[in-house]
Amino acid sequence: MSAALVVGTQWGDEGKAKVIDYLSSKIDFIVRYQGGANAGHTVVVDGETYIFHLIPSGILYPNAVCVIGNGVVLDPEAFRDEVRALARRNIEAKERVIISDACHLVLPLHRIIDAHRENAAGEKKIGTTKRGIGICYGDKTMRIGLRAGDVLHADRLRDRLGHILEIKNYELKNLYRLPEVEFNALYEDLLAFGNEIRGMVKNTSLLLNENLAKGKTVLLEGAQGTGLDIDFGTYPYVTSSNTTTGGAIAGSGIDFRFLKTVTGISKAYVSRVGEGPFPTELFGAEVEKLRELGHEYGATTGRPRRCGWFDVELVRHAARVNGLTEIALTKIDVLSAYDTIKIGVGYKRGGEKLPAFPTDGYLEGVEVVYEEMPGWKKEIGHVLKYSDLPPECCKYIRRLEELCEVPIKLVSVGPGREHTIPL
Ligand code: IMP
Repeated sequence: MSAALVVGTQWGDEGKAKVIDYLSSKIDFIVRYQGGANAGHTVVVDGETYIFHLIPSGILYPNAVCVIGNGVVLDPEAFRDEVRALARRNIEAKERVIISDACHLVLPLHRIIDAHRENAAGEKKIGTTKRGIGICYGDKTMRIGLRAGDVLHADRLRDRLGHILEIKNYELKNLYRLPEVEFNALYEDLLAFGNEIRGMVKNTSLLLNENLAKGKTVLLEGAQGTGLDIDFGTYPYVTSSNTTTGGAIAGSGIDFRFLKTVTGISKAYVSRVGEGPFPTELFGAEVEKLRELGHEYGATTGRPRRCGWFDVELVRHAARVNGLTEIALTKIDVLSAYDTIKIGVGYKRGGEKLPAFPTDGYLEGVEVVYEEMPGWKKEIGHVLKYSDLPPECCKYIRRLEELCEVPIKLVSVGPGREHTIPL
């Protein structure tokens, strides 16, 4: 009778899906609690690559029930695409996915507005995935959102959508100078979607709490990372949801007392897609080397990721705001090519040490203090036991543990399920 949570400690793309997949084998319910089809979770099983955007990656385990929680913004188009893609690989998602009746739906107009705002923003752009995420969460907060429960009832849908389109069409026409949305086609499509998901929509907070009380296990699957959290990230260069522990509770509706472990996923270096500050960022030939070694291209948009050295302040911040009980360190094999490896151990501004990662998102003029450690210069992708890792690699892991003040319990040395070493 316990829940475990997996969160990203950096700017997303830490390898969460891989660790979630590793932890999922003994889990009854796997829950997405925030974000939407902006996420790109890559899992490699028996050499086959699966990329998930909305459906929890736990769908690869035949016994796991996958829940799309109330905190998620669900895009019907993206959901249909993902269900079809899984069916082509003989996975019947519809039999094992449950959708919260309170989760908000991303409408095509959200995507259109997101892309339009980004294109018009010039150098002020956020670098969003253009999946309509922020616009949908904005409407949720403005109380003009449409939820999964609404599309199950023709009258309720007609009423809600009519009201929503009155407001959004005014915005589209007068604020963005974009074509208005025609009611009938959208209404018919949403009604059809309601019929497709009818059997899957439930009060998922009740379902999860009842099952937790009966002794079942729940894994909460975070998307993006702490640096992209709407409150604790580098605002405004963030996503529009709470990616952190608070968001997991609010976005799933589980009783927080069931939550026993919070695993922070940290890549052995850092990457970021989109705009925003990145103190340990590398440039030129240095970033190209790390990007190629780590295959750092966005799973959702294909954009080349910005890359840099491990940033201790960022992970210490993540440890604080998430209450991390442990860390899983991923992609450490990528560093095997280096003679020496740098670690960003602190920030200074104007010669003064900063006490912590700033929560106002202001990192202008920050200088990073680095420590340098010897590399191990050996392939480690085949290693199955911690004691078989080169001593320099173990020292690097232990130094990060000491600096972040959180025990490192898992290390991943490659993309496959088998490349995960418990410590
Ligand atoms: P949005 O979530 O599409 O609004 O994008 C806001 C910011 O979050 C942008 O910098 C995106 O690149 C970033 N972002 C959103 N989802 C992910 C993800 O799954 N991995 C990494 N970055 C992401």
